Amino acid sequence: MASSFFLFRLFKRKGSSRKSERSEQSRHTSSNNTSYSKNKMSSVSTSGSSQQNSEDFAASQYRYDEQGRRYHNRSDAAYILPNDDEEIDRLHMQHWILKISFQSNFGSPVKKHLEEGINVLDGGCGPGTWSLEMAKDYPQSKFTGIDISEAFPSEIKPSNCHFQVHNVNDPLPFSQNHFDYVFQRLLVVGIKEDDWDNVISQYMHVLKPGGWLELLEALLPECVNPGPKLELLMNTLAEMIEPRGVNPRIVHSIKDRMKKAGIEKVHVKYVEIPVHHGGKIGELFWQDFVMGIRDVVRPVIIKKHPELEEPDAYTNFIEECGKECDELKTCIKFYRFCGQKPTTIIA
Ligand SMILES: C[S@@+](CC[C@H](N)C(=O)[O-])C[C@H]1O[C@@H](n2cnc3c(N)ncnc32)[C@H](O)[C@@H]1O
Repeated sequence: MASSFFLFRLFKRKGSSRKSERSEQSRHTSSNNTSYSKNKMSSVSTSGSSQQNSEDFAASQYRYDEQGRRYHNRSDAAYILPNDDEEIDRLHMQHWILKISFQSNFGSPVKKHLEEGINVLDGGCGPGTWSLEMAKDYPQSKFTGIDISEAFPSEIKPSNCHFQVHNVNDPLPFSQNHFDYVFQRLLVVGIKEDDWDNVISQYMHVLKPGGWLELLEALLPECVNPGPKLELLMNTLAEMIEPRGVNPRIVHSIKDRMKKAGIEKVHVKYVEIPVHHGGKIGELFWQDFVMGIRDVVRPVIIKKHPELEEPDAYTNFIEECGKECDELKTCIKFYRFCGQKPTTIIA
C-alpha cells in the first residue's frame, strides 16, 4: 500500500501548486473566455515570441474559478470537475479506494493475457494512475491512456505506458482491432447521455475480436442512507450536469448499451463504498468526496442557501455533512461492467 502511494508521488507530473496556479490565472485573466480549438494549437508558431505563444496556449487550455481551481477550457467536453494538482492528488487516492473496494484493479478475465503481453486502452485516464500501476505490474503489456486534459505524466513513466490528449467521443486514433482490453473508469460526469452509445461502439471498433471491455461507474445522485446535507450536495451536482446532457444515473443503462453494441457475457459487480464510516476506506472516501465536490457545487449551493456564503459557514456545513454520513452509515454505489467482443462478428 505504502509503495503504491510512493509510486503515485513518483509519477506525479510536474505542475504548480494551487497558489502558483492562482498567479498563473491572474497573468492570464483573458483566457477564461478563450475556447479550446485546434486552430489555437496551430497558431503557436516558431516565429516571434515563442515563449509568449506557448504561455498563451497553456493559458487557453484552462479556465479558473474564484477559488483558484483549474478546469479544462474545451468547448467539446461536458466534464465539470477540475484538472489541477489537488484533483490529481484526489484521483490518485480514489484509485486506491476503488482498488481496495473492488478487491482488484480489474474484473475482466485478462490476467494471463496481461502477463503474456497485450495492448490495453485506458479511456479518460486522468493522471494515469491505473495505467501506471498496471504497466508496472504487467511489464509485457502496453498501456495507452487518453484524456481531454493533460494531467498524465509526459516523461517520468514506464516505457510500456503512453498517454495522449483525446476526447473519447471523437473517432479513436487507433486502428480497428488494435486493443485486447479497453478499460474506462468514472466518466459518468464526462460523457453526455446521447454519446454513450457512440463511445461504446468506438471501443468495440478498436477492440480485437475476443477482447474485453470494462466500464466502472458511480451512481449519482442516489446513495445508500443519505441524509439531507449529502442529498443537497449530490442533487446540486446532478442539477449542474444534467443541463449539459449528462445523465448521472447512466449506470442503469450501461449493461443494455454494451449488449446493444454486440458485447457478450456482460457481468456486473456492485460495490457500496462507505462515506466517513467503516474505517480507513470510509475516512479516505470522505476526503475524496469532499475534495471532488466541495468547490464545484459551492457557487450553486450558495445561491440556494446564501447563509452558507461565509467560508466558515460552508466549511461547517461540509463538516456537519460528514457527521451525518457517519451517523446514517451512508454509502455511494459503484458498478463495474465487464463484457467480451465476440470472436466471430456476424455482419
Ligand atoms: C473522475 S476522472 C477519472 C480518471 C481515471 N479514469 C481514474 O479512474 O482515475 C474523469 C476523467 O475523465 C476525463 N474526461 C472527461 N470527459 C472526457 C472525454 N470526453 N474524453 C476523454 N476524457 C474525458 C477527465 O478529464 C478526467 O481526467
